[in-house]
Amino acid sequence: MTAHLTPIRWCDDDSLELLDQRWLPSRRETLRIDTAEAAAEAITAMVVRGAPAIGITAAYGVVLAARQATGPEWPARLDAAMTRLGASRPTAINLFWALERMRAVITAHRHADAPPVERLLETARDIQRQDLADCLAMGAYGAELLAREAPKAVMTHCNTGALATGGHGTALGVIRTAWDRGLITHVHANETRPWLQGARLTAWELAEERIPVTLAVDSAASLLLAQGKIGWLIVGADRVTANGDVANKIGTFALAVQARHFGVKVMVVAPTSTFDASLASGDDIPIETRESRELTHQGERVVAPDGIDIYNPVFDVTPAGLIDVIVSEKGVIESPDRNSLAAWLDASDPG
Ligand code: MRU
Repeated sequence: MTAHLTPIRWCDDDSLELLDQRWLPSRRETLRIDTAEAAAEAITAMVVRGAPAIGITAAYGVVLAARQATGPEWPARLDAAMTRLGASRPTAINLFWALERMRAVITAHRHADAPPVERLLETARDIQRQDLADCLAMGAYGAELLAREAPKAVMTHCNTGALATGGHGTALGVIRTAWDRGLITHVHANETRPWLQGARLTAWELAEERIPVTLAVDSAASLLLAQGKIGWLIVGADRVTANGDVANKIGTFALAVQARHFGVKVMVVAPTSTFDASLASGDDIPIETRESRELTHQGERVVAPDGIDIYNPVFDVTPAGLIDVIVSEKGVIESPDRNSLAAWLDASDPG
């Protein structure tokens, strides 16, 4: 079972163990790291990926930095470590959200002689535990939406499962819960070029749990959606802006356009740690571009002309108008827009 598989484990010897997602599903290797620099490098290299998992790793990265920051200069050294971690990947807001939670602990102890290592470790553990709890709650909310209709197949994109989170998953968490409750018949996973999160990770997670899954190239999606067998497109998010626009894995925007064309509903599943009310719209979201090699090579094989110009954005922005519902751990926002999102965020904030 992979539902509670965690890609991130804090070890008794005060190091961090990451399941190295670059090699799945053919090799199950782990990487031990003991510095914030190594945590930042692991995030950039996609040893660990997926918005919540990136945030959790960064939080533990601060703990690693705190363990090594001695002397009166410790606050400045932790600031530098957080700046480094914050530069590891730009799009998923969960990274910055987690660093802000760690910063609050540091600020509260700024005048102490030594960094509050235990408090920081407890906060990182809490971020990880809370993410699993959030995913289970989102699974239940999303499944309730699916229960309104007769069971059908669903389509998903990228990997939003246990590998991308504190466990269970966001979009894949809804799919897991819905499958357990008999609310879906089948999962269509897009391979998700160029890094193949759908083929290598989502298909693996689902196959391990014997949830029926069919893998197809990304460009088969319109054909599948046109066939009328798919009830919902269910995806995660890396950032949700104040007007309900959603940054997610490249290809999500095109899928949402196609889904609207064929009358297939679109569900975005994201914890509130993915919401960024400071940005007015998706136009303001920094979109990561990655190295050319992801397009020019398949393994060691060269598949593009030498020296060709490459554009490799790895996220895109789906306008709120194409999204039927956003599911978070605090509930469901139907037809998200600036007003509905603001009202919902106010109502769901216990503070
Ligand atoms: O580049 P990745 O693999 O980090 O991208 C991941 C995604 O786009 C996911 O859909 C998103 O982070 C939500 S994960 C729960």
